[in-house]
Amino acid sequence: CGIIGFTGQREAKNILIDGLKSLEYRGYDSAGITLSGRDQFKTIKTVGKVSDLVTKVNEFSDLKQTSGIGHTRWATHGGVTDQNAHPHTHGRVTLIHNGIIENYHELEMELSSARKHPISQTDSEIVAMLIDSLYDGDAFHAIREAVKKLEGAYAFCILFSEEPGTIYCVRNASPLVACHVPEGSIVASDMVALIKFSKDYFVLPEHHIARLTKEDITIYNMDHEEVTPNLLHVNWDITAAQKNGYPHFMLKEIFEQPEAIRSTILPRITMDNLPDLSVDQIPNRIFEKVNRVIITACGTAMHAGLIGRALIEKLLRIPVVVEIASEFRYQEPIMDENTLVITISQSGETADTLASLRLAKEAGAVTLSIVNVKGSTIARESDYVLYTHAGPEIAVASTKAYTAQLSCLYLLSYHFAYLRRTITKEQCAEYIQELKSVIPAVEQTLQLDKKIDAIGKNLICKEDLFFIGRGLDYALCCEGSIKLKEISYIHSEAYAAGELKHGTLSLITEGVPVVALATQSKVYPKMISNIREVKARGAEVILITNERQEINREIYDYHIALPNTSDILAPFTAAIAMQLLSYYTSVHRGSNVDQPRNLAKAVTVE
Ligand code: G6P
Repeated sequence: CGIIGFTGQREAKNILIDGLKSLEYRGYDSAGITLSGRDQFKTIKTVGKVSDLVTKVNEFSDLKQTSGIGHTRWATHGGVTDQNAHPHTHGRVTLIHNGIIENYHELEMELSSARKHPISQTDSEIVAMLIDSLYDGDAFHAIREAVKKLEGAYAFCILFSEEPGTIYCVRNASPLVACHVPEGSIVASDMVALIKFSKDYFVLPEHHIARLTKEDITIYNMDHEEVTPNLLHVNWDITAAQKNGYPHFMLKEIFEQPEAIRSTILPRITMDNLPDLSVDQIPNRIFEKVNRVIITACGTAMHAGLIGRALIEKLLRIPVVVEIASEFRYQEPIMDENTLVITISQSGETADTLASLRLAKEAGAVTLSIVNVKGSTIARESDYVLYTHAGPEIAVASTKAYTAQLSCLYLLSYHFAYLRRTITKEQCAEYIQELKSVIPAVEQTLQLDKKIDAIGKNLICKEDLFFIGRGLDYALCCEGSIKLKEISYIHSEAYAAGELKHGTLSLITEGVPVVALATQSKVYPKMISNIREVKARGAEVILITNERQEINREIYDYHIALPNTSDILAPFTAAIAMQLLSYYTSVHRGSNVDQPRNLAKAVTVE
């Protein structure tokens, strides 16, 4: 969910609406605001998008309040209804919430009576009831006592009718960032909503209570002592969070990849073409004793991990496993101080990834995270962080964050291998030189835009699609498949090409599209045989290879020839071709590309 709060000198309404528009990618089932002014609290909420909320807000002419909170929802508890939309009010308390309260049912039983009962089906309203029941004129006390009873993840912005103009915030796991500027104090679930006002901000520490007034922001620990937060700075500006002429954020972000890769790798390469992670305060000694690597993440970030595994195992001959974070956290993974646990996350807030990181730390493993959002929880809690410098990623379907994650994994693998002497200095410099050449190759791949657009047009009536590949290409197929299904709603599956004949081949009939990725020379002849197998069953083959491959015209219907790279680096160009294919197919099907149904960008609940 997206959260915004403002209190200051200016009218709050438009600041909240603008903030919600920028945060909409975090959830878009419903939206609402509460404006708080002396004698007048006004809540307006609705199912639908922020634009629907704006229509409703525009029916009122007298919304002059200079303080308020706003929310855009990704439903967890309770269906998508006006009633379940936030803010929720109970008695003297109005709040917005991001997260899940796991023990809400017990609390509801405790608090409900014949006279007092919730009107929505949300866990959030129960918290409003709870705080109201504990409020005796002292907001700090009521919030502190309430959070003692809460189990789960939360970020709350809370208004008290007896204190108009003041916003209280508290969080556990779910993110909140804030800043104070001449216009007033602002809090939000992420920096894209603050950037219009400031590049300097702070992350509200967990289990602290912040009090925002138009004059300042004060943070207290639970003993009511004032605490000074650490200020952070971002190096991007408002234009990075806007579409800048592109029809969708996704397309803009696809085209930002050369820059994202450049900014991620170049500052970490020495004049001699060797990786240098000292800029990230990652000491060489942490790699000395590692005898096992675990990569854990969710979604696209996990797919980046699959490429990381192939690299590390190839270059270092150290066993690597890639684990889906929501599975890993409930297993009993084998880890000790010689295990390197790499967590990968664009947002740095994904609940399951965060829990996996905490598990790894408890086991004494060395933890290193690859994260895009500066100061995010995963970044702060990891022993070491390698930031991807992709800038803000707004489209729900991850693109530039993925290739920036790959960039970090390549750098890390080369660095690690060189330190452990499994590659020589010269080999390492050669690998790095090649990695740099990925940037022009990615630029050339983007020029295939129109060609891929035309192929995408031919897929709009398809209901099932298969991605096949071997080795690194198979890892990429997993990413290609998720990208396509999440935004186009075409069912798709990624298959290791050699495995097809053990079941899935029965689904290949006349006209079923198969994206065949064949960039790896070692398995190229095998791949061609697999392509022939599907072609013989009537598949419509979209073949993706390097330019250098000579191909028999009979085995494909469409061919995308990627600029030549070494096999090991083909994932960069192939990923971009698959992103463009998903994008254009979805656009032609008329989907909401940036905000696919039921999904959200940052999943801070498990
Ligand atoms: C959500 C997003 C995906 C993302 C995944 C992991 O499902 O829609 O695009 O890959 O979460 O997110 P993270 O922020 O941890 O990379």
